[in-house]
Amino acid sequence: MDEFERAARMASTYLERVPDRPVWRPVPDRAWLTEQQMPDRGRPLARLLDDIGEFVLPHPMGNGHPRFFGWVNSPPSQAGVAVAPLAAAFNPSTAGGDQAGVLLERTAVRWLAELVGFPHPPGGGLLTSGASMATIVALSAARRRALPDVRENGLYGRAPLVMYLSEEGHSCLRKAAELLGLGSANLHVVPVDDAYRMDPAALRARIERDLAEGARPFLVAASAGTVNTGAVDPLAEIAAVAREHGLWFHVDGAYGALAAVTGDPVFEGMAEADSLALDPHKWLGVPVDCGCVLFRDPALVRDTFSLVPPYLRDDEGDPLGWFSEYGIEQTRPFRALRVWATIAHRGRAGVVELVRRTTGLARTLATMVEESGDFELMAPVTTSIVAFRYTPADLPGLPAAVQRRGRAFITGTHLGGMAALRACILHPETTEADLAILLDEIRLAAKEL
Ligand SMILES: Cc1ncc(COP(=O)(O)O)c(C=O)c1O
Repeated sequence: MDEFERAARMASTYLERVPDRPVWRPVPDRAWLTEQQMPDRGRPLARLLDDIGEFVLPHPMGNGHPRFFGWVNSPPSQAGVAVAPLAAAFNPSTAGGDQAGVLLERTAVRWLAELVGFPHPPGGGLLTSGASMATIVALSAARRRALPDVRENGLYGRAPLVMYLSEEGHSCLRKAAELLGLGSANLHVVPVDDAYRMDPAALRARIERDLAEGARPFLVAASAGTVNTGAVDPLAEIAAVAREHGLWFHVDGAYGALAAVTGDPVFEGMAEADSLALDPHKWLGVPVDCGCVLFRDPALVRDTFSLVPPYLRDDEGDPLGWFSEYGIEQTRPFRALRVWATIAHRGRAGVVELVRRTTGLARTLATMVEESGDFELMAPVTTSIVAFRYTPADLPGLPAAVQRRGRAFITGTHLGGMAALRACILHPETTEADLAILLDEIRLAAKEL
Protein backbone atom coordinates (compact mmCIF):
# COMPACT_ATOMS: atom_id res chain seq x y z
CA MET A 1 0.00 0.00 0.00
CA ASP A 2 1.39 3.44 -0.98
CA GLU A 3 0.58 4.86 2.44
CA PHE A 4 2.87 2.32 4.13
CA GLU A 5 5.75 3.43 1.94
CA ARG A 6 4.90 7.05 2.56
CA ALA A 7 4.81 6.48 6.35
CA ALA A 8 8.24 4.82 6.18
CA ARG A 9 9.57 7.74 4.13
CA MET A 10 8.12 10.23 6.60
CA ALA A 11 9.86 8.41 9.45
CA SER A 12 13.22 8.39 7.72
CA THR A 13 12.93 12.05 6.61
CA TYR A 14 11.95 12.97 10.15
CA LEU A 15 15.04 11.25 11.56
CA GLU A 16 17.34 12.84 8.95
CA ARG A 17 16.09 16.33 9.77
CA VAL A 18 16.11 16.09 13.57
CA PRO A 19 19.61 17.60 13.99
CA ASP A 20 18.64 20.68 11.91
CA ARG A 21 15.54 21.45 13.96
CA PRO A 22 15.17 23.00 17.40
CA VAL A 23 15.78 20.33 20.04
CA TRP A 24 12.42 21.18 21.55
CA ARG A 25 9.89 23.98 21.43
CA PRO A 26 6.65 24.58 23.29
CA VAL A 27 3.57 23.41 21.40
CA PRO A 28 2.04 26.73 20.20
CA ASP A 29 -1.44 25.51 19.34
CA ARG A 30 -2.72 22.46 21.17
CA ALA A 31 -6.28 22.42 19.88
CA TRP A 32 -5.73 19.70 17.26
CA LEU A 33 -3.85 17.54 19.74
CA THR A 34 -6.22 17.81 22.65
CA GLU A 35 -9.64 18.91 21.46
CA GLN A 36 -10.40 17.45 18.05
CA GLN A 37 -13.74 15.73 17.71
CA MET A 38 -13.98 12.08 16.83
CA PRO A 39 -15.02 11.82 13.16
CA ASP A 40 -18.26 10.10 12.37
CA ARG A 41 -16.94 8.65 9.16
CA GLY A 42 -13.44 7.38 8.64
CA ARG A 43 -10.91 9.43 6.71
CA PRO A 44 -8.37 8.17 4.17
CA LEU A 45 -5.03 7.10 5.59
CA ALA A 46 -3.27 9.58 3.29
CA ARG A 47 -5.06 12.49 5.04
CA LEU A 48 -4.11 11.08 8.43
CA LEU A 49 -0.47 11.05 7.37
CA ASP A 50 -0.88 14.71 6.30
CA ASP A 51 -2.18 15.48 9.79
CA ILE A 52 0.69 13.64 11.47
CA GLY A 53 3.18 15.62 9.37
CA GLU A 54 1.49 18.90 10.26
CA PHE A 55 0.44 18.47 13.88
CA VAL A 56 2.48 15.68 15.48
CA LEU A 57 6.00 15.46 14.06
CA PRO A 58 6.84 19.17 14.58
CA HIS A 59 6.41 18.77 18.36
CA PRO A 60 8.77 16.08 19.65
CA MET A 61 9.94 15.52 23.20
CA GLY A 62 13.42 16.27 21.90
CA ASN A 63 15.21 13.03 22.69
CA GLY A 64 16.11 12.29 19.07
CA HIS A 65 18.43 15.29 18.96
CA PRO A 66 22.18 15.09 19.65
CA ARG A 67 21.88 18.04 22.05
CA PHE A 68 19.13 16.47 24.16
CA PHE A 69 20.68 15.85 27.57
CA GLY A 70 17.52 15.61 29.69
CA TRP A 71 16.44 12.83 32.09
CA VAL A 72 17.42 9.41 30.64
CA ASN A 73 15.91 9.34 27.15
CA SER A 74 17.82 8.16 24.13
CA PRO A 75 17.23 8.51 20.41
CA PRO A 76 15.69 5.41 18.78
CA SER A 77 18.04 2.93 17.13
CA GLN A 78 17.66 2.90 13.35
CA ALA A 79 17.16 -0.86 13.33
CA GLY A 80 14.48 -0.58 16.01
CA VAL A 81 12.56 2.02 13.98
CA ALA A 82 12.90 -0.03 10.79
CA VAL A 83 11.39 -3.18 12.31
CA ALA A 84 8.71 -1.54 14.48
CA PRO A 85 6.08 -1.55 11.67
CA LEU A 86 6.79 -5.24 11.08
CA ALA A 87 6.12 -6.03 14.73
CA ALA A 88 2.88 -4.08 14.41
CA ALA A 89 1.90 -5.90 11.22
CA PHE A 90 2.72 -9.28 12.77
CA ASN A 91 0.85 -8.18 15.91
CA PRO A 92 1.17 -11.25 18.14
CA SER A 93 0.48 -11.35 21.81
CA THR A 94 3.72 -12.70 23.21
CA ALA A 95 1.99 -14.03 26.32
CA GLY A 96 3.03 -17.50 25.17
CA GLY A 97 2.54 -20.19 22.58
CA ASP A 98 4.65 -21.73 19.86
CA GLN A 99 5.34 -18.66 17.76
CA ALA A 100 8.23 -16.50 16.58
CA GLY A 101 7.44 -13.59 18.91
CA VAL A 102 7.82 -15.73 22.03
CA LEU A 103 10.83 -17.70 20.81
CA LEU A 104 12.72 -14.56 19.74
CA GLU A 105 12.12 -13.03 23.18
CA ARG A 106 14.12 -15.94 24.64
CA THR A 107 17.07 -14.85 22.51
CA ALA A 108 16.59 -11.13 23.13
CA VAL A 109 16.60 -11.65 26.90
CA ARG A 110 19.61 -14.00 26.74
CA TRP A 111 21.53 -11.44 24.66
CA LEU A 112 20.73 -8.70 27.16
CA ALA A 113 21.98 -10.94 29.98
CA GLU A 114 25.16 -11.67 27.99
CA LEU A 115 25.75 -7.97 27.29
CA VAL A 116 25.64 -7.04 30.97
CA GLY A 117 27.33 -10.25 32.19
CA PHE A 118 24.40 -11.60 34.18
CA PRO A 119 23.89 -15.39 34.62
CA HIS A 120 21.06 -16.65 32.48
CA PRO A 121 19.30 -19.89 33.39
CA PRO A 122 16.57 -20.86 30.87
CA GLY A 123 13.56 -18.67 31.49
CA GLY A 124 15.58 -16.27 33.64
CA GLY A 125 14.01 -13.02 32.49
CA LEU A 126 11.41 -11.26 30.41
CA LEU A 127 10.84 -7.99 28.61
CA THR A 128 8.58 -5.47 30.31
CA SER A 129 7.18 -2.02 29.57
CA GLY A 130 10.11 -0.46 31.40
CA ALA A 131 12.19 -0.67 34.55
CA SER A 132 9.24 0.38 36.71
CA MET A 133 7.39 -2.79 35.71
CA ALA A 134 10.62 -4.82 35.90
CA THR A 135 10.98 -3.60 39.50
CA ILE A 136 7.44 -4.63 40.38
CA VAL A 137 8.15 -8.12 39.03
CA ALA A 138 11.44 -8.38 40.94
CA LEU A 139 10.08 -7.09 44.24
CA SER A 140 7.04 -9.35 43.95
CA ALA A 141 9.32 -12.39 43.66
CA ALA A 142 11.37 -11.20 46.63
CA ARG A 143 8.22 -10.71 48.68
CA ARG A 144 7.06 -14.19 47.77
CA ARG A 145 10.41 -15.68 48.81
CA ALA A 146 10.13 -13.93 52.17
CA LEU A 147 6.46 -14.88 52.63
CA PRO A 148 5.71 -18.12 50.74
CA ASP A 149 1.96 -17.86 51.47
CA VAL A 150 1.62 -14.19 50.47
CA ARG A 151 -0.51 -15.01 47.45
CA GLU A 152 -3.12 -16.67 49.61
CA ASN A 153 -2.96 -14.63 52.79
CA GLY A 154 -1.60 -11.26 51.74
CA LEU A 155 0.34 -9.18 54.22
CA TYR A 156 -2.34 -9.09 56.93
CA GLY A 157 -1.28 -9.54 60.54
CA ARG A 158 2.46 -9.95 60.04
CA ALA A 159 5.55 -8.09 61.11
CA PRO A 160 6.40 -5.63 58.31
CA LEU A 161 9.08 -6.55 55.80
CA VAL A 162 11.84 -3.96 55.60
CA MET A 163 13.53 -2.94 52.38
CA TYR A 164 16.71 -0.88 52.01
CA LEU A 165 17.59 1.60 49.31
CA SER A 166 19.92 4.57 49.16
CA GLU A 167 19.00 8.24 49.18
CA GLU A 168 19.70 8.13 45.45
CA GLY A 169 17.50 5.09 44.72
CA HIS A 170 15.00 5.69 41.91
CA SER A 171 11.39 6.56 42.71
CA CYS A 172 10.20 3.40 40.92
CA LEU A 173 11.49 1.38 43.89
CA ARG A 174 9.30 3.34 46.24
CA LYS A 175 6.32 3.06 43.91
CA ALA A 176 6.75 -0.71 43.65
CA ALA A 177 7.09 -1.08 47.42
CA GLU A 178 3.95 0.99 48.02
CA LEU A 179 2.02 -0.93 45.40
CA LEU A 180 3.04 -4.29 46.88
CA GLY A 181 1.71 -3.25 50.27
CA LEU A 182 5.12 -3.03 51.89
CA GLY A 183 4.44 0.55 52.98
CA SER A 184 6.86 3.40 52.43
CA ALA A 185 7.42 3.61 56.20
CA ASN A 186 9.21 0.28 55.85
CA LEU A 187 11.63 1.58 53.26
CA HIS A 188 14.79 2.36 55.14
CA VAL A 189 16.94 4.90 53.40
CA VAL A 190 20.67 4.28 53.62
CA PRO A 191 23.00 7.28 53.40
CA VAL A 192 25.41 7.76 50.51
CA ASP A 193 29.11 8.67 50.43
CA ASP A 194 30.65 11.76 48.78
CA ALA A 195 30.26 10.10 45.40
CA TYR A 196 26.52 9.48 45.97
CA ARG A 197 27.03 5.71 46.38
CA MET A 198 25.26 3.67 49.03
CA ASP A 199 27.40 3.29 52.12
CA PRO A 200 27.62 -0.50 52.80
CA ALA A 201 28.77 0.01 56.41
CA ALA A 202 25.73 2.17 57.08
CA LEU A 203 23.57 -0.49 55.42
CA ARG A 204 24.98 -3.21 57.67
CA ALA A 205 24.57 -1.08 60.78
CA ARG A 206 20.96 -0.26 59.89
CA ILE A 207 20.06 -3.91 59.26
CA GLU A 208 21.58 -4.94 62.59
CA ARG A 209 19.71 -2.20 64.40
CA ASP A 210 16.45 -3.19 62.71
CA LEU A 211 16.97 -6.85 63.57
CA ALA A 212 17.63 -5.94 67.19
CA GLU A 213 14.35 -4.03 67.18
CA GLY A 214 12.47 -7.06 65.83
CA ALA A 215 11.98 -5.90 62.23
CA ARG A 216 12.16 -8.28 59.23
CA PRO A 217 14.72 -7.06 56.70
CA PHE A 218 14.09 -8.79 53.35
CA LEU A 219 15.56 -6.85 50.45
CA VAL A 220 18.25 -4.38 49.50
CA ALA A 221 17.98 -2.45 46.25
CA ALA A 222 21.25 -1.08 44.92
CA SER A 223 21.74 1.14 41.88
CA ALA A 224 23.97 0.47 38.89
CA GLY A 225 23.75 4.01 37.56
CA THR A 226 21.66 6.42 39.58
CA VAL A 227 19.46 8.84 37.72
CA ASN A 228 20.92 11.95 39.40
CA THR A 229 24.64 11.38 38.92
CA GLY A 230 25.11 7.99 37.22
CA ALA A 231 26.78 6.64 40.38
CA VAL A 232 27.21 2.90 40.72
CA ASP A 233 26.80 1.61 44.27
CA PRO A 234 29.55 -0.68 45.63
CA LEU A 235 27.69 -3.72 44.38
CA ALA A 236 30.09 -6.45 45.55
CA GLU A 237 30.09 -5.09 49.11
CA ILE A 238 26.32 -4.71 49.14
CA ALA A 239 25.97 -8.26 47.78
CA ALA A 240 28.09 -9.47 50.69
CA VAL A 241 25.88 -7.67 53.23
CA ALA A 242 22.77 -9.11 51.57
CA ARG A 243 24.24 -12.62 51.66
CA GLU A 244 25.27 -12.25 55.30
CA HIS A 245 21.69 -11.41 56.30
CA GLY A 246 19.80 -13.57 53.78
CA LEU A 247 18.35 -10.52 52.00
CA TRP A 248 17.19 -10.47 48.40
CA PHE A 249 19.72 -8.44 46.40
CA HIS A 250 18.05 -6.36 43.69
CA VAL A 251 19.99 -4.09 41.34
CA ASP A 252 18.36 -1.20 39.50
CA GLY A 253 20.43 -1.03 36.35
CA ALA A 254 17.68 0.63 34.31
CA TYR A 255 20.01 3.29 33.03
CA GLY A 256 23.53 2.13 33.82
CA ALA A 257 23.74 -1.68 33.65
CA LEU A 258 24.49 -1.58 29.94
CA ALA A 259 27.85 0.05 30.68
CA ALA A 260 29.00 -3.27 32.19
CA VAL A 261 29.48 -4.36 28.56
CA THR A 262 32.91 -2.69 28.60
CA GLY A 263 34.07 -4.87 31.50
CA ASP A 264 34.37 -1.84 33.80
CA PRO A 265 35.25 -3.23 37.27
CA VAL A 266 32.86 -0.74 38.89
CA PHE A 267 30.07 -3.22 38.05
CA GLU A 268 31.68 -6.09 39.96
CA GLY A 269 29.06 -7.78 42.09
CA MET A 270 26.14 -6.95 39.77
CA ALA A 271 26.06 -10.57 38.57
CA GLU A 272 25.43 -11.69 42.16
CA ALA A 273 22.03 -10.04 42.23
CA ASP A 274 18.86 -12.08 42.67
CA SER A 275 17.21 -9.71 40.21
CA LEU A 276 18.40 -7.01 37.84
CA ALA A 277 16.20 -4.40 36.16
CA LEU A 278 17.55 -2.85 32.99
CA ASP A 279 16.05 -0.74 30.26
CA PRO A 280 16.83 -1.49 26.62
CA HIS A 281 14.80 1.67 25.83
CA LYS A 282 17.46 3.79 27.52
CA TRP A 283 21.15 3.61 26.56
CA LEU A 284 20.76 0.79 24.02
CA GLY A 285 18.23 2.91 22.10
CA VAL A 286 15.49 0.35 21.57
CA PRO A 287 12.45 2.45 20.63
CA VAL A 288 10.09 2.89 23.60
CA ASP A 289 8.81 0.77 25.24
CA CYS A 290 11.17 -1.89 26.43
CA GLY A 291 12.38 -2.78 29.90
CA CYS A 292 13.77 -6.09 31.07
CA VAL A 293 14.05 -8.00 34.32
CA LEU A 294 16.60 -10.76 34.76
CA PHE A 295 16.41 -13.19 37.64
CA ARG A 296 18.45 -15.97 39.10
CA ASP A 297 15.57 -18.28 40.07
CA PRO A 298 12.95 -18.52 37.30
CA ALA A 299 10.91 -21.12 39.21
CA LEU A 300 10.36 -18.70 42.08
CA VAL A 301 9.19 -15.96 39.71
CA ARG A 302 6.80 -18.37 38.02
CA ASP A 303 5.45 -19.37 41.44
CA THR A 304 4.93 -15.68 42.19
CA PHE A 305 2.76 -14.93 39.17
CA SER A 306 1.55 -18.09 37.49
CA LEU A 307 -2.20 -18.28 37.33
CA VAL A 308 -3.40 -20.41 34.46
CA PRO A 309 -7.18 -20.62 34.06
CA PRO A 310 -8.54 -23.49 31.94
CA TYR A 311 -8.94 -21.23 28.90
CA LEU A 312 -5.18 -20.53 28.89
CA ARG A 313 -3.90 -24.07 29.48
CA ASP A 314 -1.23 -25.16 27.04
CA ASP A 315 -0.44 -28.79 27.85
CA GLU A 316 1.74 -29.33 24.81
CA GLY A 317 3.71 -26.15 25.31
CA ASP A 318 7.20 -25.19 26.42
CA PRO A 319 8.06 -26.61 29.88
CA LEU A 320 9.09 -23.08 30.87
CA GLY A 321 5.47 -22.07 30.43
CA TRP A 322 4.23 -18.74 29.14
CA PHE A 323 5.86 -15.35 29.66
CA SER A 324 2.56 -14.22 31.17
CA GLU A 325 3.27 -16.61 34.07
CA TYR A 326 6.34 -14.56 35.00
CA GLY A 327 4.84 -11.10 35.28
CA ILE A 328 1.73 -8.97 35.27
CA GLU A 329 1.02 -8.47 31.59
CA GLN A 330 -1.21 -11.05 29.86
CA THR A 331 -1.39 -9.68 26.33
CA ARG A 332 2.18 -8.60 25.62
CA PRO A 333 3.60 -6.72 22.61
CA PHE A 334 6.38 -8.00 20.35
CA ARG A 335 9.17 -5.97 21.99
CA ALA A 336 11.74 -8.64 21.21
CA LEU A 337 11.87 -7.73 17.51
CA ARG A 338 13.08 -4.21 18.34
CA VAL A 339 15.61 -5.53 20.87
CA TRP A 340 16.88 -8.26 18.58
CA ALA A 341 17.23 -5.86 15.62
CA THR A 342 18.98 -3.19 17.69
CA ILE A 343 21.58 -5.60 19.10
CA ALA A 344 22.01 -7.59 15.87
CA HIS A 345 22.56 -4.35 13.92
CA ARG A 346 25.13 -2.90 16.31
CA GLY A 347 26.76 -6.15 17.39
CA ARG A 348 28.47 -6.44 20.74
CA ALA A 349 31.35 -4.31 19.45
CA GLY A 350 28.93 -1.58 18.40
CA VAL A 351 27.33 -1.54 21.85
CA VAL A 352 30.76 -1.32 23.49
CA GLU A 353 31.62 1.56 21.13
CA LEU A 354 28.35 3.37 21.98
CA VAL A 355 29.05 3.09 25.72
CA ARG A 356 32.71 4.10 25.36
CA ARG A 357 31.86 7.08 23.20
CA THR A 358 29.13 8.43 25.45
CA THR A 359 31.01 7.82 28.71
CA GLY A 360 34.06 9.48 27.10
CA LEU A 361 31.98 12.53 26.20
CA ALA A 362 30.68 12.70 29.77
CA ARG A 363 34.25 12.82 31.07
CA THR A 364 35.04 15.52 28.48
CA LEU A 365 32.05 17.57 29.66
CA ALA A 366 33.24 17.15 33.26
CA THR A 367 36.67 18.49 32.27
CA MET A 368 35.09 21.42 30.41
CA VAL A 369 33.03 22.18 33.53
CA GLU A 370 36.07 22.02 35.79
CA GLU A 371 38.15 24.20 33.51
CA SER A 372 35.44 26.82 33.10
CA GLY A 373 35.37 29.70 35.53
CA ASP A 374 31.61 29.59 35.95
CA PHE A 375 30.57 25.97 36.35
CA GLU A 376 31.25 23.50 39.14
CA LEU A 377 31.15 19.71 39.00
CA MET A 378 28.87 18.29 41.70
CA ALA A 379 29.69 14.57 41.48
CA PRO A 380 32.32 12.31 39.98
CA VAL A 381 31.47 10.97 36.53
CA THR A 382 31.18 7.17 36.52
CA THR A 383 28.88 6.55 33.57
CA SER A 384 27.45 9.09 31.12
CA ILE A 385 25.70 11.53 33.47
CA VAL A 386 27.33 14.79 34.52
CA ALA A 387 25.90 16.68 37.49
CA PHE A 388 27.06 20.27 37.78
CA ARG A 389 25.96 23.78 38.64
CA TYR A 390 26.22 27.25 37.23
CA THR A 391 28.09 29.15 39.92
CA PRO A 392 27.27 32.82 39.22
CA ALA A 393 23.67 32.29 40.37
CA ASP A 394 21.33 29.57 41.60
CA LEU A 395 18.49 30.07 39.16
CA PRO A 396 15.54 27.75 39.70
CA GLY A 397 14.16 28.29 36.19
CA LEU A 398 17.47 27.67 34.45
CA PRO A 399 16.80 24.24 32.89
CA ALA A 400 13.44 25.43 31.53
CA ALA A 401 15.04 28.60 30.15
CA VAL A 402 17.66 26.51 28.32
CA GLN A 403 14.94 24.26 26.94
CA ARG A 404 12.89 27.21 25.65
CA ARG A 405 15.84 28.53 23.65
CA GLY A 406 15.66 25.30 21.60
CA ARG A 407 19.39 24.73 21.00
CA ALA A 408 20.03 22.28 23.85
CA PHE A 409 17.86 20.46 26.37
CA ILE A 410 18.94 19.90 29.95
CA THR A 411 17.06 19.03 33.12
CA GLY A 412 17.69 19.76 36.78
CA THR A 413 17.67 17.96 40.08
CA HIS A 414 18.65 18.35 43.72
CA LEU A 415 21.88 16.96 45.11
CA GLY A 416 22.87 17.16 48.74
CA GLY A 417 20.17 19.81 49.22
CA MET A 418 21.43 21.99 46.35
CA ALA A 419 19.92 22.64 42.94
CA ALA A 420 21.94 20.96 40.21
CA LEU A 421 21.94 20.62 36.45
CA ARG A 422 22.42 17.19 34.99
CA ALA A 423 23.36 16.18 31.48
CA CYS A 424 22.79 12.58 30.42
CA ILE A 425 24.67 11.69 27.24
CA LEU A 426 23.16 8.77 25.30
CA HIS A 427 23.13 9.91 21.67
CA PRO A 428 25.63 8.18 19.37
CA GLU A 429 26.00 11.38 17.32
CA THR A 430 26.62 13.90 20.09
CA THR A 431 29.98 15.66 19.62
CA GLU A 432 32.33 17.73 21.75
CA ALA A 433 31.07 20.81 19.89
CA ASP A 434 27.56 19.99 21.16
CA LEU A 435 28.88 20.00 24.73
CA ALA A 436 30.39 23.47 24.23
CA ILE A 437 27.06 24.68 22.83
CA LEU A 438 25.29 23.25 25.89
CA LEU A 439 27.48 25.24 28.30
CA ASP A 440 27.08 28.41 26.20
CA GLU A 441 23.32 27.95 26.09
CA ILE A 442 23.21 27.71 29.89
CA ARG A 443 25.15 30.98 30.13
CA LEU A 444 22.87 32.70 27.62
CA ALA A 445 19.71 31.38 29.31
CA ALA A 446 20.97 32.58 32.70
CA LYS A 447 21.30 36.11 31.27
CA GLU A 448 17.68 36.02 30.18
CA LEU A 449 16.41 35.23 33.66
C1 LIG B 1 17.86 4.60 37.45
C2 LIG B 1 16.46 4.42 36.95
N1 LIG B 1 15.69 3.46 37.48
C3 LIG B 1 14.43 3.25 37.06
C4 LIG B 1 13.86 4.03 36.10
C5 LIG B 1 12.43 3.77 35.69
O1 LIG B 1 12.42 3.22 34.41
P1 LIG B 1 11.15 3.27 33.44
O2 LIG B 1 10.90 4.71 33.20
O3 LIG B 1 11.60 2.54 32.22
O4 LIG B 1 10.02 2.60 34.11
C6 LIG B 1 14.61 5.05 35.53
C7 LIG B 1 14.01 5.94 34.51
O5 LIG B 1 14.54 6.95 34.14
C8 LIG B 1 15.96 5.23 35.94
O6 LIG B 1 16.72 6.19 35.41
